[in-house]
Order: sequence, then structure tokens, then C-alpha cells
Amino acid sequence: MYKIVEKRELAPKIKLLEIVAPDIAAKANPGQFVILRVSEIGERIPINIANSDIKKGTITLVFNEVGKTTNQLGLLNKGDQIPNIVGPLGNPSEIQRFGTVLCVGGGVMIAPLFFQVSALRKAGNKLITVIGARIKDLLIYEKEMKELSDEFYVATDDGSKGYKGLGFLKDLVNKQKIDRVIAIGPVVTLKTVSEMTKPLGIKTIVTLTPIMVDGMGMCGACRVSVAGETKFACVDGPEF
Ligand code: FES
Repeated sequence: MYKIVEKRELAPKIKLLEIVAPDIAAKANPGQFVILRVSEIGERIPINIANSDIKKGTITLVFNEVGKTTNQLGLLNKGDQIPNIVGPLGNPSEIQRFGTVLCVGGGVMIAPLFFQVSALRKAGNKLITVIGARIKDLLIYEKEMKELSDEFYVATDDGSKGYKGLGFLKDLVNKQKIDRVIAIGPVVTLKTVSEMTKPLGIKTIVTLTPIMVDGMGMCGACRVSVAGETKFACVDGPEF
């Protein structure tokens, strides 16, 4: 059983849980995920790891209440227990001193991006960070990301805060030398970013989050097509 030691609502329907899971915390790296069940007969859902604290033996998960299981998870409180968590799963992000890294995160996936951005900062990179959401009330980790970044931008789909949409990124990637781009969020965000960086030849890493079942390469549910080849997001990714 995995005890919840902290629960916060970061935005409407977006919750953060800090959970005691020392074995997972000891091995978790940015880019990885866990699969959990809220009850013994519940479905398995993947959630990207938003942080780990080896000293406290905890991991942090941030999720959007969009379906039955995430709604059930959102009803749990500090002191409650989660019966099953498996992880860390997937390959860790490549973290090294790349130079200037543009980090783009959308929606609830800004949380796992924070884990990556923290590691990239420690590795000595210059960080240009962009966080986006549908509307300003759904922006999360704004203060934390700003503190870690050399340049920081906000975008919303409706223009209620920062830039309206990601169109402004085109200027940004054309104006300065960027050594690497990482993007995590809705598929449309990943597509927009990749289409901007491809003509410039900037190495761009995106995180894919298809439906997963076992998370260990056995069921085939997470099949994705990458450059014409079939890959399993859980064991070959989730970063591509
Ligand atoms: Fe089953 Fe990836 S989730 S193969």
C-alpha cells in the first residue's frame, strides 16, 4: 500500500498527490512514469512522474480528473492509501549539458516537464521555458518554472494570459541558437513544435502518452508509429 502524504488542487480538476513509495523514489528519473490502480479491481492508468524525493521516499504525481479512475484518485485524501503502483517505467530523459534547451509543456504535462527542467538546470543548461494551457486558470507550476528558467513564456489557447497559441515560438526558434527542444503535452502541441523545429534541424524530443495497459511491452496497447516504424511507447519511449 502506498500512503498519500500530501494532496493539493493546483487548478480546477488538476490534483497533486505526494505518495510514500521509497523503492520507486530511489530509482525514478525525469521522463519516467508509473502505472497505478486506485482499487484492487480498478483499471491500470499511467501517470508521468512529476518529482521524486529520495530522502523522504516519496514521488509526486499530478493528474487531470478526466475519467472514472482519475476522478476516484482525486477523491483520495492525505492519509489514504493507493493499493498498487508499479514503476518507474519507461526510459529516463537524456539529461546532459546540451547548451540552450527550449522546453515546452502543455496542460497537466507541465508537471513532469518540471521534473525534467529541474534536472536540465542542474546539468548547467540555459533554459527557455514555455508553459501553455487552454485558459489561464489551468496554468500550473508557473512560479516554479519561472524560477528555473533563463527565459520564460506563457501561452493560452484563448489568449487569457501570455501569448495566444504557440505561433510566437516560430520567431523564438528562428531568433537564437537552440541546441535541443523538448515538448510534452497534447499531441497538437507536440506536432506544432516539431513542425517548427524540423526545417531548422533542431533535435526535438517529444513525450507520447497513448493508452497503456501493462506498461512493460507485452500487451501492445501503446503502439505508436515513429518515422514509419512501430514502437511501444512504454518500453521504447515514452520520449521519441
Ligand atoms: Fe502494453 Fe506498452 S502498455 S506494450
